[in-house]
Amino acid sequence: MSNTATAPTPVRSIPPHPKKGHWLFGNVYHLLKDPITYLRESSPQFKGIFTLTSRLINIVVITEPEYVKYVMLDNNKNYKKWFKNDVLELILGKGLLTSEGDFWRKQRRLAQPAFHKERLVKMVDTMTSCTEQQIIKLGQLSNKKHVDISTEMMELTLNIVAGAMFTTHVEGAIEVVSREIERTSEMATARFNNPFRLPVKYPTPVNLRERKAVKNLDDVLNPIIRERRKSTEEHHDLLAMLMEAKDEDTGEQMSDQQLRDETMTIFLAGHETTALALSWLWYLLDNNPVQAQKLYDEIDQVTQGRTPTLEHLQQMPYTRMVMDEALRLYPPAWMIMRENLEDDEIGGYRIPKGYTFMIPVYEIHHDVRLWDEPDAFKPERFSKENAKNHHRFAYFPFGGGPRQCIGNNFALMEMQIIIVMMLQKFRFKVSAGFKPEKYPMVTLRMKHGMMVDVEKRN
Ligand code: HEM
Repeated sequence: MSNTATAPTPVRSIPPHPKKGHWLFGNVYHLLKDPITYLRESSPQFKGIFTLTSRLINIVVITEPEYVKYVMLDNNKNYKKWFKNDVLELILGKGLLTSEGDFWRKQRRLAQPAFHKERLVKMVDTMTSCTEQQIIKLGQLSNKKHVDISTEMMELTLNIVAGAMFTTHVEGAIEVVSREIERTSEMATARFNNPFRLPVKYPTPVNLRERKAVKNLDDVLNPIIRERRKSTEEHHDLLAMLMEAKDEDTGEQMSDQQLRDETMTIFLAGHETTALALSWLWYLLDNNPVQAQKLYDEIDQVTQGRTPTLEHLQQMPYTRMVMDEALRLYPPAWMIMRENLEDDEIGGYRIPKGYTFMIPVYEIHHDVRLWDEPDAFKPERFSKENAKNHHRFAYFPFGGGPRQCIGNNFALMEMQIIIVMMLQKFRFKVSAGFKPEKYPMVTLRMKHGMMVDVEKRN
């Protein structure tokens, strides 16, 4: 988007947000306090780009899809990921989510085939059997009131990703991994909440607890990886695929350390996002009974109460539209961050190097300039005919460009299986008097969970 001979736009500075702020945090303060409301109020005052300034950090916010495309796709080489979370780095090492440059590129090439659609077909059984187990548990809770369905979804999606990673049962491993991943993920969130805590290398009591949780995870994962190396048995899980992956040019494979980092990354990136998407989706269905009924009808007609197969899933366009619309209204990755490596120019605005870029997915998904009735739940927006009308970066729950989510097809298949199987059995009614509160941390959580009454169908 730099100036070309045909586009003699004068280079300007990006408009600053006029709202006054805190003496230290400037107007970034409002962003820290209530980012979703602040961005909603701010965005209409600008033409897709503005800055927030403070003594500590300067942020460029972009909400214009063409500018987002430029940063995430067209000129992505100039934009690295922005993470200021050393707990996340301790947990994930140099996994896909946190690595950069050539190292990331090589890892992505190696990991990509494990997530191809043909490979994912092998994971349908893991997904259906884990969902069946959760349904048995929920059945015991049914006709119970005030069940936090977000905790149930978290447990289920973690079991699925762990099951997909190691199909052979490793005694006690999944339980430890589940427990410690939950704990470490809470810790990364806590640090996100309070960026002024002492770095993890200092031996404060909290930091020592964090390091211990990561060590517990390592103590489980590393022996599994070592055992697998020695095993002569054939395996068909994600770990086997990552282990077998070879660089086409050099023949190089992942080291044990890389396998550990990628396994950890997939566990962490691959469960909470999906669980949150489902929790918000149950809420939307309860609030939109007409659309919910249409969904029940499609599920009943296609599956006739049977365990869904891949063929069934492909015959359920409405289910898919409901999922897309839920991911628009409540995108679990509600914000994407970047930093520019060199000076750049976007839409005629000059950007000195080293700026922090904020791409507020939630705000763009609700922008009245891009969506009609943006707050309404209208799955029809994503019918085959209508979906073409959206800019690629007006709707991007899985990001875009080379850093797009590697697990997007995994997540969509998993969500669809869970929706179909759960709704064959239950209705989730939001508990009387409960209203979920958005809690935008690393992901778009809900502050007090998602309390529902579980009702058996029929
Ligand atoms: C509804 C569920 C999910 C959502 C909304 C989601 C969203 C995203 C987004 C927006 C990114 C890009 C972040 C950026 O550009 O800074 C991302 C990256 C990633 N996601 Fe997902 N994700 C989901 C599920 C999954 C699952 C199920 C897995 C694995 C099984 C997964 C693994 C990853 C990994 C490894 C990356 C880093 C990719 C890279 O940089 O090469 N995600 N995800």
